[in-house]
Amino acid sequence: MTRPMESDVIVLGAGAAGLMAALTAGQRGRRVTVLDHAAEAGRKILISGGGRCNFTNRDTDAGCFLSGNPHFAKSALARFRPADILALVERHGIAWHEKTLGQLFCDGSARAVVDLLRAECDAGAVDLRLSHRITGVTKADRFTVATDRGTFSAPALVLATGGLSIPKMGATGLSHDIARQFGLRVTPTAPALVPLTFDAATGAWMRDLAGVSVEVEARCGRARFREALLFTHRGLSGPAILQASSYWQAGGELSLDLLPGRDAAALLRAAKRQRPRVAGQTMLGGLLPQRLAQMLAAHHLPDGPVGEMPDVVLNRLGQLLSRWVLTPTGTEGYAKAEVTRGGIDTRDLSSATMEARGVPGLYAVGEAVDVTGWLGGYNFQWAWASGHAAGRAL
Ligand code: FDA
Repeated sequence: MTRPMESDVIVLGAGAAGLMAALTAGQRGRRVTVLDHAAEAGRKILISGGGRCNFTNRDTDAGCFLSGNPHFAKSALARFRPADILALVERHGIAWHEKTLGQLFCDGSARAVVDLLRAECDAGAVDLRLSHRITGVTKADRFTVATDRGTFSAPALVLATGGLSIPKMGATGLSHDIARQFGLRVTPTAPALVPLTFDAATGAWMRDLAGVSVEVEARCGRARFREALLFTHRGLSGPAILQASSYWQAGGELSLDLLPGRDAAALLRAAKRQRPRVAGQTMLGGLLPQRLAQMLAAHHLPDGPVGEMPDVVLNRLGQLLSRWVLTPTGTEGYAKAEVTRGGIDTRDLSSATMEARGVPGLYAVGEAVDVTGWLGGYNFQWAWASGHAAGRAL
């Protein structure tokens, strides 16, 4: 039997979190091996942010993450901040810009971020091994990882294979499975930052509006997001819906304010007084996209000029516009989800180092952990911060 290849640290997963852990440990003098089954490192980084990678969010705060323990992410986020990844981006000469809501994107291709991570891994002499299929992990005095291309051994193992989102890009539950194997708990997982689907009747009128976008406040439980909503052939999408989806539980309601920050009923009554001769659709078209106005008028307003419509009718429509309650039947699933909610239970990890409490030498970082960020660069910031925290401790 050939002897295993030995190093100080094995990282499973060459994504954002795994590469950050690897480069941090490597630059501290640790001999690091990274194993990934994909032929290319950082594939999700390459497709992120529409190909321009929304690599962080200036306004990162622990409140922008969902987790069984809302305090867990604080320590790592405090020790590797958006300014730290930005400094690295600038050191590598990557041009960037701020879009909206603190979101920082590359001006050019997301590939620059992967190149940055690979260059920093090279600076730490990280041994990056792609196209390695992992067939098993055991632990005696060291961790041993069996692959289809040899066996690797190290006293420390970092689980960084991400979540279940986009299986066709190679996402698997490997980190969750290994965590369970070593007695760590894994909280229930679900697709998050994902479009929502509806029953046939609701889906049918949404399909008629496919392509229409409108700024709303989407509310799910206590979470509220004021961003764009997009009607699609399958239901609802757009940033406001993706954000709300992370908080949505099966059977739960979604509430939409189609005129956020405004008193819809008062607006409609004022519009009636100002232009009493116009039809309902025309009045609504002054407030909302035309196709949506048309649909709302057809279903909720009588024919004829608005001047003839009783205030009670306008008030009722105003209430609907301010609080339109819908019950999604599901999501578009992991195939369309940007991230996975849930994962390795934070109760079993140190928030300072990401090391498993009962299993010395075992670490978990990134999306594999039960920390899920909002849309807008937060998930990469968590990947960088958790990877960095582990890399400092390895
Ligand atoms: P990640 O998934 O990046 O990496 C895991 C690695 O493990 C991969 O290289 C994979 O090949 C490997 N792996 C998986 N299973 C394995 C196995 N069984 N054996 C060996 N290797 C295995 N976030 C953000 O902040 N800004 C953004 O702009 C976007 N945009 C975006 C767009 C799209 C389309 C998606 C799907 C996601 C985003 N995200 C995002 C989310 C972000 O991509 C995600 O949160 C991070 O990539 C998570 O980083 P990790 O390193 O934890 O996992």
